[in-house]
Amino acid sequence: MVQEFDKVGVVGLGTMGAGIVEVFARAGFRVTGVEIDDTALGRGRAHVEKSLAKAVAKGKLTEEEQSAILGRVTFSTERENLADADFVVEAVPERMDIKRDVFTDLDRICPPGTILATNTSSLSVTEIAALTSRADKVVGLHFFNPAPVMKLVEVVATVGTAPGTIELAGEVAKRIGKTPVTVGDRAGFVANALLVPYINDAIKAYEHKIASREEIDTTVTKSVGLPMGPLTLADLVGLDVCLAVMDVLWDEFRESRYVAAPLLRRMVAAGKLGRKSGQGFYDYSGAEEPAEEVPTGPIARAVRDGAHGFDLADLLIVPHIDDAVRMVGEGYATVEDADTAMRFGCGYPKGLIELLDERGADSVADVLKSLADAGFVQHTPAPLLAHLLRAGRTTLRTS
Ligand code: 3HC
Repeated sequence: MVQEFDKVGVVGLGTMGAGIVEVFARAGFRVTGVEIDDTALGRGRAHVEKSLAKAVAKGKLTEEEQSAILGRVTFSTERENLADADFVVEAVPERMDIKRDVFTDLDRICPPGTILATNTSSLSVTEIAALTSRADKVVGLHFFNPAPVMKLVEVVATVGTAPGTIELAGEVAKRIGKTPVTVGDRAGFVANALLVPYINDAIKAYEHKIASREEIDTTVTKSVGLPMGPLTLADLVGLDVCLAVMDVLWDEFRESRYVAAPLLRRMVAAGKLGRKSGQGFYDYSGAEEPAEEVPTGPIARAVRDGAHGFDLADLLIVPHIDDAVRMVGEGYATVEDADTAMRFGCGYPKGLIELLDERGADSVADVLKSLADAGFVQHTPAPLLAHLLRAGRTTLRTS
């Protein structure tokens, strides 16, 4: 039972790991944050301290609360200090060799009852579990950026995770104020499998000069009410993370929808990773950015004028909706889980299935057909969407 333990370890204090430390410490857990060396540890500590200081400055936290929270956190470069941890979350870089090093160590150091959770977004939790002698106690606990703000936590259960471990991970997520959704160990889980192909579509639209980056971002925030445009969001998430998710989706499904945009791959190769490197689709170095030209080619004009039965918002959002219908139709996520994932993980005002129902399955299918006729999408509508139409239904939710 989660009430019976309070000692949590977090391994890896990058943006996500530091955010996870903050979330646990705020919820009253004693947390040991571990990094590889003093420099990385100092960076992680500064991240937590800055975030809490900001909350104090905004009047969201008192100075007493701030010092109580910091008093619950221990920073260390020694994994051995996790020997008495009840629950450990790993948030190290997304490389299997690094995960192997961490998990074999944790398996040796932590008592047999300790739950080992991974925050991986693009590696197989099953493979990570297999690195240990306690696959039944290994689970995914996938947070969303910024971790202190976004409410969703995906609890990723492998075929070997014990039901008690899944239940406990869900309880832990609730105790830290998050909304857990339990998902299987499939590429991209729920939220990233929907979000990242949509970001990739936006990158392709930019790369193919269908619209400027500002047009792409503001179209989505204005017309659908999403909190951020896809290119701004790609910069926040990290272009390397987006590419890793696209590649794992491609590896698993081998469908053209999951081919990473060439520009995404090139930007990662060039070290333009988004906010964390100071440059992505936008510049974060403080340098003056030259104004971008608005594309004026024939396709850009046709999309802008809606000449082929769809506009830029349709081009970006309708395949995104279709992906969610496909996922539900494949039985991988329920309607509720698919919508919760996007609302609580990515701040969408409405879930993708809600958007489908609001717009009507017939209208979504018409736009998909126009997009396919114009050569923008290669896939046919999700079987469940086709089924709804054949059944004469315009919504997926029955009530
Ligand atoms: N750390 C802590 N708090 C933060 C923060 C951060 N990095 N960034 C913003 N906040 C807080 C602010 O302090 C503010 O708190 P308050 O309401 O208590 O004052 C609140 O969040 C809102 O922030 P702002 O007013 O500064 O800015 P916005 O209203 O523009 O919101 C946002 C910022 C919350 C990031 C919002 O734009 C959003 O929801 N964007 C979508 C983010 C998203 O989709 N994340 C998921 C990406 S996918 C992922 O992470 C998975 C991975 O595996 C790829």
